[in-house]
Amino acid sequence: MRVGVLTGGGDCPGLNAVIRAVVRKGVQVYGYEFVGFRDGWRGPLEGDTIALDVQAVRGILPRGGTILGSSRTNPLRVEGGIDRIKDNLAGLGVDALIAIGGEDTLGVARQLYDHGVNVVGVPKTIDNDLSATDYTFGFDTAVNIAMEAIDRLHTTAESHHRALICEVMGRHAGWIALHAGMAAGANVILIPEQPFDIEKVCAYVESRFKTRYSPILVVAEGAHPLDGQMEVQDAELDSFGHIKLGGIGERLAAEIEKRTGKEARTTVLGHIQRGGTPTAFDRVLATRFGLQAVDAVHDGDYGKMVGLQGTDIVRADLSAATDRLKTVPVERYAESEVFFG
Ligand code: F6P
Repeated sequence: MRVGVLTGGGDCPGLNAVIRAVVRKGVQVYGYEFVGFRDGWRGPLEGDTIALDVQAVRGILPRGGTILGSSRTNPLRVEGGIDRIKDNLAGLGVDALIAIGGEDTLGVARQLYDHGVNVVGVPKTIDNDLSATDYTFGFDTAVNIAMEAIDRLHTTAESHHRALICEVMGRHAGWIALHAGMAAGANVILIPEQPFDIEKVCAYVESRFKTRYSPILVVAEGAHPLDGQMEVQDAELDSFGHIKLGGIGERLAAEIEKRTGKEARTTVLGHIQRGGTPTAFDRVLATRFGLQAVDAVHDGDYGKMVGLQGTDIVRADLSAATDRLKTVPVERYAESEVFFG
């Protein structure tokens, strides 16, 4: 049995832990051979491969990024893309494919499965917005990075009597903002799911200053005001049609200064949230996902994505995982509102 492995979309800590687990169990327990595809769907589309054996996965458990490389290549937008992938897989003697990715990568995996490719998905994203799994690996690491940054903002904000805003990732889902904000004691958390009222935000800022503490605001990049448009850095779209966001933190700082007369500054964490070594939680989750993905291949259980339910690793249809995004429910956001102001 020859199994292809690829990592697609934005990278995240824990990808290498999945690859290692897949290869170690696949070789040692099932006697499989592996082929790594470079840079997400670009690899199978162009037949671009990399050797993937036990030697290649030694020492990669704690390493961030992905030894296979990643990209946002969308083969569904390429003329004859699906057939090209099928031909390349056949030419390389690849019997099954393990695709590690988020909604976009797994959306392509689902289409390929519908076209007869033996594919198993592994959910990856720092955004934690995939359905059919309680958590995706990478999320815990991103939240911890953001939490540490926000902890540091508290002390400098208080020295200078400033409002400090921390902009975190999260285009459509505010999980990172919610968890990092809660863990680090933010006074305001703004997420894409709940358009914010700038007047209320400024009232929270003012009431916080009255207690002689400085306000710390955590804002997801996709958050937007009640009456406004989503802030965009530029209007460029990626190949999956996602707008490139950024800028809401700066806009918020300007608005707070104008309305309250207090100094406000913004820190944009950006790709720092995606880089570096995974937390223990993400290493274990990624490893368990990898072990279960190779088991699914062994069982011939294709068209599935592995996921976490409670403490168990389960399998769900790729369609259930990619049909809709898992966003922050109103009641989860309401829990954090107790600490606003
Ligand atoms: O989906 C993961 C993610 O990190 C999002 O949170 C973010 O909006 C996006 O990727 C950024 O993508 P890129 O690195 O391609 O700019």
